[in-house]
Amino acid sequence: MLQTRKLDVGLPFGASVHGLTMALVADPAVQAELKDLWVRESVLVFRDCPATEEFHVALGKSFGELIVHRSAHIRVEGNPELVQFTADPEQDGIYRVDGIDKVGWIPWHADLAWMPKSSRGGLLRALTIPSEGGETGFMSRFDVYERLPERLKRAVEGREIVTRIRNAYETNPYVIGQQAELRYKPKHIEESELQLIASNPPCIHPLVAIQPETGRKFLNFSPAGADYILGMAPEASHKVLSEIAIYANDDSKAYRHSWKLGEYILWDNWVINHKAYGTALGDTRVMQRVTIASDGQQVVGRLLEAA
Ligand SMILES: [Fe+2]
Repeated sequence: MLQTRKLDVGLPFGASVHGLTMALVADPAVQAELKDLWVRESVLVFRDCPATEEFHVALGKSFGELIVHRSAHIRVEGNPELVQFTADPEQDGIYRVDGIDKVGWIPWHADLAWMPKSSRGGLLRALTIPSEGGETGFMSRFDVYERLPERLKRAVEGREIVTRIRNAYETNPYVIGQQAELRYKPKHIEESELQLIASNPPCIHPLVAIQPETGRKFLNFSPAGADYILGMAPEASHKVLSEIAIYANDDSKAYRHSWKLGEYILWDNWVINHKAYGTALGDTRVMQRVTIASDGQQVVGRLLEAA
């Protein structure tokens, strides 16, 4: 029997899990219980468990096959499924967000939302915590859908959304809620982003999707990358997406996690959008992550050029 608690009684998602060990994570009955909890709660925070790379990989594997990241330079030596993110202007650039220069700021998004087949989940661990800031936000796409007024639910029902990767977050029309301005981007990052854009044409996904295990509807909408509603007049599409963006960028409805050393967070990348609030320039933050591959439960989109 797992030791679990509600993450925040005011939130409709999220649980914490306490005291896992390598032996427990290897137990098929525990794995099944954890998977079921993940599907129901969308976000799991693991506390009081080993803070090691080996445990991180083992815990990730208990939820599914892991993806080896395409960028070799951020892979962790000896554990290629792990990638390390260090707040570094030479890797992340600098954004001025609401008047503060930040490194590692990433607005609301789902990972790989711009690909037909995104990842199923991510599992993060904090290795070095900044003196302040550096939080990660999580927002339930079930909750975003539930909060929409009926007229917007009707407007998105049965629709498909076109999503594309963009290399400047401030130019995403449906990323709202803060003043963000790019201050610095290293040339090598700009070049690799342009390559990524060139090799990943826009793709199409259903805008409303259903979690098969529960039958619950969610808004399959990543503010970063969202482009337009397929088959809708441009002005009408922009009006609908601008309205739903207000709900999907509402930080007051999110779980905002202030990291403690030794914690891990797992999110369901299909039903959760997440956000990195960024670290003040000059402060230090180091995170590691494993990525869980798409599984048979996820709706797979298609490329726009094949539509
Ligand atoms: Fe992300």
